[in-house]
Amino acid sequence: MLRNTRTGYGAIAIAFHWTMAALVFVLFALGLVMTGLPQTDPFTFALYQLHKSLGMTFLALAVGRLAWRAVNPSPRLPATMPRLERLAAHLGHAGLYALMLAIPLSGWLMVSASPWGIPTIVFNVLPVPHLPVPEVLGGKAEAEATLKTVHELLGWFMLALVALHVAAALKHHFITRDAVLTRMTSLKPARQTT
Ligand code: HEM
Ligand code: HEM
Repeated sequence: MLRNTRTGYGAIAIAFHWTMAALVFVLFALGLVMTGLPQTDPFTFALYQLHKSLGMTFLALAVGRLAWRAVNPSPRLPATMPRLERLAAHLGHAGLYALMLAIPLSGWLMVSASPWGIPTIVFNVLPVPHLPVPEVLGGKAEAEATLKTVHELLGWFMLALVALHVAAALKHHFITRDAVLTRMTSLKPARQTT
């Protein structure tokens, strides 16, 4: 089943979720590794290009995922969940979506601001134009430095939110013992209609 139902996620939402979850961890690890390596090494340069290609792919997936979500609403949360927990879940998901756009956009802006002007060519195939950098961020070097800090801070913020998100998923599975985790891992509950 491709579409979500009222009680379960469909194959497309599940594929988006797990592909992007895996990509976040790869991008985060790559970001930390490449910034810690000698900056003049060609291998480091290749890792930066890979990070930018995967990051732009992630941004495209985030846009596609939000479009799919707009035409295919998510299943309802279990009616047994307290109101405050439902609110926390909705806010947490909204925060994750916002970061899924803001982090790659800050990276794209950062490379656009860089005085080095290194082009971004996704997997050496698709050239991505540089974005206009808002003047409030100052000159090129200053804007690049600010955006680096923003990119890094947002990255850590997302990691913290993902940790809470995973903790909530595990709580649902092992403590509340509802179907919230399994409906993101299997298509079975999606066949129910109520
Ligand atoms: C979800 C997507 C992304 C995640 C989670 C992510 C994460 C990270 C992390 C954790 C770092 C290391 C920060 C540090 O310690 O300084 C980093 C650095 C970097 N990222 Fe990303 N990134 C993403 C997307 C992008 C995109 C789309 C671009 C550009 C097109 C980009 C360009 C860069 C660059 C140039 C650096 C090096 C900054 C420096 O030299 O300090 N990132 N990223
Ligand atoms: C490995 C760790 C992860 C686990 C166990 C997990 C688990 C889940 C589960 C069970 C749901 C369904 C919640 C519901 O039914 O309402 C969900 C939804 C969601 N997850 Fe994750 N997740 C993980 C990683 C991530 C990551 C890394 C991100 C983002 C970067 C993310 C973003 C989201 C979003 C935005 C939703 C809401 C989907 C929607 O209804 O629109 N997840 N996750």
